[in-house]
Amino acid sequence: MASLTVRQLDEKLKKLLRLRAARHGRSMEDEVRTILRAAADEAGREALETFQPPSKTPARAAAPVTRRVLVVIGGGIAAYKSLDLIRRLKERGIAVRCVLTKAAEQFVTPLSAGAIVGERAFTDLFDRDSEFDVGHIRLAREADLIVVAPATADLMAKIAGGHADDLATAVLLATGAKVLLAPAMNPHMWANKATQRNAAQLAADGFAFVGPNEGEMAEAGERGLGRMAEPLEIAAAADKWLASAGAQPLKGRRVLVTSGPTHEPIDPVRYIANRSSGKQGHAIAAAAARAGADVTLVSGPVNIPDPPGATVVHVESARDMLRAVERAMPVDVAIFAAAVADWRVDAAGGQKIKKKPGQAAPALALVENPDILATVAHRKSQRPKLVIGFAAETENVVAHAKDKLARKGCDWILANDVSPETGIMGGDRNTIQLVRASGVEPWPPQSKDDVAATLVARIAEELEEKKA
Ligand code: CTP
Repeated sequence: MASLTVRQLDEKLKKLLRLRAARHGRSMEDEVRTILRAAADEAGREALETFQPPSKTPARAAAPVTRRVLVVIGGGIAAYKSLDLIRRLKERGIAVRCVLTKAAEQFVTPLSAGAIVGERAFTDLFDRDSEFDVGHIRLAREADLIVVAPATADLMAKIAGGHADDLATAVLLATGAKVLLAPAMNPHMWANKATQRNAAQLAADGFAFVGPNEGEMAEAGERGLGRMAEPLEIAAAADKWLASAGAQPLKGRRVLVTSGPTHEPIDPVRYIANRSSGKQGHAIAAAAARAGADVTLVSGPVNIPDPPGATVVHVESARDMLRAVERAMPVDVAIFAAAVADWRVDAAGGQKIKKKPGQAAPALALVENPDILATVAHRKSQRPKLVIGFAAETENVVAHAKDKLARKGCDWILANDVSPETGIMGGDRNTIQLVRASGVEPWPPQSKDDVAATLVARIAEELEEKKA
């Protein structure tokens, strides 16, 4: 697979690919990557996980190890989803290690788990290499969080009983880290009194749970409570626990976020606005606060609650927003997620404009609003170390984003396609391409919370790499 290049495809396929890439404003390589990622997401096939198509984008430097998660894979049919979980954790800048139980090896191989983790997966308690090299005590100690996925009924029983007869249970007994269990089993096994007793004991002992969820089981025709939580759900729960466990990669940093639409008055009762919900900007503010940053959120009028942990300044118009942003300076990182109205009414009336019979509709003379992002990015003094903008586009997404990056003088642009058919405007999901001077990095379609977590992880890496 590593030798596959666009050049080797047949002419017809190349033409189709070229058309598709042009339509989406991507390079052909980026288009191949997007197609593969969608296919891997859909099929959940392990083989695609390790495929790296050729790219002009320089490989990112290894992330500094700020947060470490040990994934323990138990022996259940849901084990294949744990490979996706590892990928999702790594996307968030989390360093992952992996232990497989003997039963897990019936479902996934240590080789495939190791390939996704990027180092060997551990399996044996009495393994010369692992005992002398890493060993169960080090595995237990060198994790900020342990995620057991799938946590089978048998594995839960062993942990609740304090067993330590294999590597997974020995690590779990030896660790002082928080443990997050993602149970997965047949609904009858989950409902069984013994399992419920074990789950209650584990909860009382301080273990955290994500799922199980209700739904179809692997066994034909079975449904009920027992499905393992989805990888993104588990990754989000892991993020939450890592934050509460004190892994705060943005501790000591000041972060400014703008969010929501602006309202530009026409008169005291009417205004010009747009469809922005503020969900993405608010999610970023919440994720940055969870990561330990001192966050100021400057929000336009939205119908969602203030995110926990951030200082929120509520504003109406673009000019109010700029004033609030200037007041929040200096900051280390400024993220401009607001959908600022480009124009305002030149002379907004002090009184309500009245209809007068027989008179023509009033003409609204518009003037351009200040560009808040460009103003901050071009500051001569106290420019934030990292200035990040969004580019909401309906066509030629990457080309427009690259143009905005240069024109506005910011460091990164998170570009997204907001055509009505994507449902991004006001919706809960987002598909981002991170555009930097060094290249374009497409992110998989994910929830706005996950976009926020991925962005925060990237920011932490960047500040660490620059030692800024
Ligand atoms: N932005 C801003 N102030 C403005 C307009 C935009 O801070 N007056 C920021 C947005 O928050 C976003 C980025 O600039 O981070 C790009 O916004 P967008 O609306 O996509 O770009 P525009 O400059 O408005 O360009 P156009 O409308 O031509 O696409």
